[in-house]
Amino acid sequence: MKKPVTKVVFPVAGLGTRFLPATKAIPKEMLPIADRPLIQYAVQEARQAGITDFIFVTGAMNRPLLKSHFSENPSLNTFLRERGKTTELNLVAETVIEPDRLHFCSQDKPLGLGHAVWCAREFVAGEPFAVILPDDLISAEPGCLKQMMDVHSRLGGNVVAVENVAPDLTNRYGILDIASEDGPLVVARGLVEKPAPDKAPSTLSIIGRYILDDKVFEHLDKGVAGAGGEIQLTDAISATIGAGVPFHGLRFAGTRYDCGSMYGFVEANVTFGLQSSAHAEEIRAYLKNYLKRPV
Ligand code: G1P
Repeated sequence: MKKPVTKVVFPVAGLGTRFLPATKAIPKEMLPIADRPLIQYAVQEARQAGITDFIFVTGAMNRPLLKSHFSENPSLNTFLRERGKTTELNLVAETVIEPDRLHFCSQDKPLGLGHAVWCAREFVAGEPFAVILPDDLISAEPGCLKQMMDVHSRLGGNVVAVENVAPDLTNRYGILDIASEDGPLVVARGLVEKPAPDKAPSTLSIIGRYILDDKVFEHLDKGVAGAGGEIQLTDAISATIGAGVPFHGLRFAGTRYDCGSMYGFVEANVTFGLQSSAHAEEIRAYLKNYLKRPV
């Protein structure tokens, strides 16, 4: 029987250099989209998919912030209760992760995504686990990870979320060398990290959601550097293809926002702002009026 996936790894030790100066003092996963930080969307998506344990791979700066965002804040609760702010109290309650389900480990050197996941190995060894890159925000119902869990519970192995990107952008993603397709499921014969457009085997790219077999550690343990001199998760997954671990890319149903870039961040704020029932009307009215102005 397949082991259930109950743990998620969030690799959040990066410096967010694509989004400076916003990320000089605020880690990128703490930047808000509408009313909550990016990382909270990732935790919500994981919870909806049945995840119970949350592992944050952090740098020194962001760990205390993450700990305080996802822990009880008794004095804030007392303040809100005394003022009768029930809605806010409930919103704050939604952020809390039980202390024994909230785990941290460090990535002290920027050696790549594969290395970040390797840093979490002692928390996930011996079982399949999920990885979410919080700057890939995905609006979907059910959530993207839940869609992937449904595939994983049927087929096991490694499952990644995929979507097509513009041909000139393959050098920003892990790209699939497609062997066959069956509806939204794609089987690849290999994966290439950030190939130049003229070297890319397709335009089907990995988006920041993974369900991984712990066999990926057999490759990650070797610490081999790949594209950009970094230890790549894509290479570790690729190494398991043909080694008895099924691999599937899932063309998920939903929309992805690249919130590690200024464009994607603004796009997501507009979209999620328009989806929030409390402010949707006024944001819509504002945008309509604003766009009527001469440029
Ligand atoms: C990482 C992965 C890449 C994947 C991308 C998705 O790249 O290495 O394979 O396609 O996330 O966002 P990064 O964005 O960290 O450079």
